[in-house]
Amino acid sequence: MKKHIVLLPGDGIGPEVARAAKRVLEAIAEQHQHTFTFETHNIGGSAIDQDGTPLPEDTIEACHKADAVFLGAVGGPKWDDLPGHMRPEKGLLGIRKQLGLFANLRPVKAFQQLLHASPLKTEVVTGSDLLIVRELTGGLYFGEPSERRNNGAEVVDTLAYSRHEIERIVEQAFQSARLRRNHLTSVDKANVLESSRMWREIVEEKKQEYPEVTVEHMLVDAAAMKLVTNPSYFDVIVTENMFGDILSDEASVLTGSLGMLPSASIRKDGLGLYEPVHGSAPDIAGQNKANPLASILSVAMMLKHSFKMEEEAEQVEKAVQDVLAARYHTADLNINGGIPVSGSELANKVIEQL
Ligand code: NAI
Ligand code: MG
Repeated sequence: MKKHIVLLPGDGIGPEVARAAKRVLEAIAEQHQHTFTFETHNIGGSAIDQDGTPLPEDTIEACHKADAVFLGAVGGPKWDDLPGHMRPEKGLLGIRKQLGLFANLRPVKAFQQLLHASPLKTEVVTGSDLLIVRELTGGLYFGEPSERRNNGAEVVDTLAYSRHEIERIVEQAFQSARLRRNHLTSVDKANVLESSRMWREIVEEKKQEYPEVTVEHMLVDAAAMKLVTNPSYFDVIVTENMFGDILSDEASVLTGSLGMLPSASIRKDGLGLYEPVHGSAPDIAGQNKANPLASILSVAMMLKHSFKMEEEAEQVEKAVQDVLAARYHTADLNINGGIPVSGSELANKVIEQL
């Protein structure tokens, strides 16, 4: 198969982890006789420096034409004092919006070798393997009006959704559940919010089309508790934009390391933006210390979601597991009796396993 991938390395450790992602894609292409072509563009702080804007036109155009996009990370102290519309984050928010990526997928898996690194008890995190499907383009973050009134005596934000927006994210969640363990938890606040009551109705309608999936509704406060008391209970969680933002950060502590968490933002036709959850880590940039595994796991998500290459995706995930089982790790991971290696060496180990 032929696929065209746009790389947006960005800032700080972004270029280091993007290099690892590209090398893994090249290794997969060679083994499976795929043709992957690459094109690199600026985003974030490095785009501000070179093009005077965090999201240059040629970056947007290239992403529209791509089969998938990989993004490293954006931001850093160098650009902290710039005004809001010129900040590196604008590049990231802007490209997600430009591409209409409405579903954010954040898998969280507790790897056996890293259980002790979680702040939660080992017996609580053992077996955790969940996916949060967060609505990304609507809800409380984008509802209008959102403004101050009467000279600041009042303020309003709006949680608004169209039926279409809820339907498409719920469908995505059912499809994800079908590829996993067929258990979907829809998280809302239906005891208080009308939008949540309609969300529940739509989940009930859609479930007729996915009889193999077990569905339940859970209030967001209860879900927040269960995520840290019994995380292995969950398979797929689907939820509104802000609930998803909060729950996905909460869930990320299960693994004990930011350097292990991949993510995808996708739309219906398969185009997706794949990125590690972590930021540009200016404190370790340029020292070959960055853990490339979050990016490599993001590549596995790209293979699965955008390219429908299930086997290749599983091969990448397995290689990551094997490398951890062999106790290789970067400095951010603390593996008992482990073998510390640099970021590029860890990527080499994954490629050897492939
Ligand atoms: P960060 O995720 O960049 O770093 C937090 C801590 O985790 C640091 O100590 C860092 O060294 C470590 N870390 C992160 N990724 C690592 C990896 N792959 N391997 C080893 N260690 C790793 O978050 P922070 O420090 O809050 O933000 C730094 C910059 O990144 C800021 O400018 C922020 O705005 C930006 N940022 C960008 C994001 C994105 O591009 N999606 C997301 C979060 C932050
Ligand atoms: Mg967040």
